[in-house]
Amino acid sequence: MGFRAALHFDDGMQREIDVPQGQTLLDAALAAGLNLAHQCRSGSCASCICTLVSGEAGNVPGRASALLRSEIDAGMRLACSLLPQADVAVRFAYGSRLAEGEAAIRCDAVVSGLRQLSSDVWELSIQPEKRLDAVPGQYLRIQVPGTGSWRSYSISSEPDSPERLSLVVKIHPQGSMGRYLLERAGLGDACCVEGPFGAFTLGSWQGPHVFIAGGTGLGPILPMIDQLRERPGRTPDTILAFACSREEGLFHLDELSLRQDWMARLDVRVGVSRPSPAWHGPVGNPLALLEDAAFKPDSIVYVCGAPGLIEATRERCSSLGIPPERIRAEQYLPAPDTA
Ligand code: FES
Repeated sequence: MGFRAALHFDDGMQREIDVPQGQTLLDAALAAGLNLAHQCRSGSCASCICTLVSGEAGNVPGRASALLRSEIDAGMRLACSLLPQADVAVRFAYGSRLAEGEAAIRCDAVVSGLRQLSSDVWELSIQPEKRLDAVPGQYLRIQVPGTGSWRSYSISSEPDSPERLSLVVKIHPQGSMGRYLLERAGLGDACCVEGPFGAFTLGSWQGPHVFIAGGTGLGPILPMIDQLRERPGRTPDTILAFACSREEGLFHLDELSLRQDWMARLDVRVGVSRPSPAWHGPVGNPLALLEDAAFKPDSIVYVCGAPGLIEATRERCSSLGIPPERIRAEQYLPAPDTA
């Protein structure tokens, strides 16, 4: 016995699959050849987030859930935990192309660039042996050179140069990547990469765009803004709010000014939440840099940063009448190294 699941993607495409009783939606979709966004398959990364539109479904007993309370209240679920108990309809906030594309690949790579961007942020560039066709906003897993540890980082480089991928890395001095970058990193170091992953990508909606970046959350957002600029037709009104805790942590300010030159309709706000006496700019987290009038009922909101920032953004948007499906979020967690 099983159930039918209708999977709706944000480009309007729909796919129907059978889900045997006791099987998760993700496992059934993968078995049917649909490469839904996922990573851990254990409820802890939120990569497989979706919205249950209709039908009854439970969760795998005892499985962790990386969902925020506000996300659960908005009907969101994790496909790797969702067990249909009737026919269901589920919506994914990305296009069918991502689900029907190639599965992630793993290949060897070498370190091709190292640059310190701020007091605690580095740019690590790698040259993979195989072409990894990522969509702006997606991320990679990378093996820390010389170790068995793997970490995940968003791709911050232009998608049209897949032969050299840049990752923005927040340095945790005791973490394996932090120790590697601070103590022994060198050009030509061998490593392994896997990807691309993730569904934090530009939607097809029309309307003003609001990007909210906390710290290294700016990494995936820069190429998304570039993609928006290159879309045919008039570029929408766009606001980018970016903040770090301290001014010495700010980075890519030159990249932001370049984009302001290129995009007349781009409004960039930069702030810090714990300023020194020498700071004369805006103070607060990125959400605090946006007055209510910066949001419109038809805004599309992209937020990337710590869980608290995402939760606060959802609550703010809800209070301003922006529906949850017009908010896309990517949580950055200080994830432990994985083997
Ligand atoms: S794949 Fe990580 S939470 Fe589902």
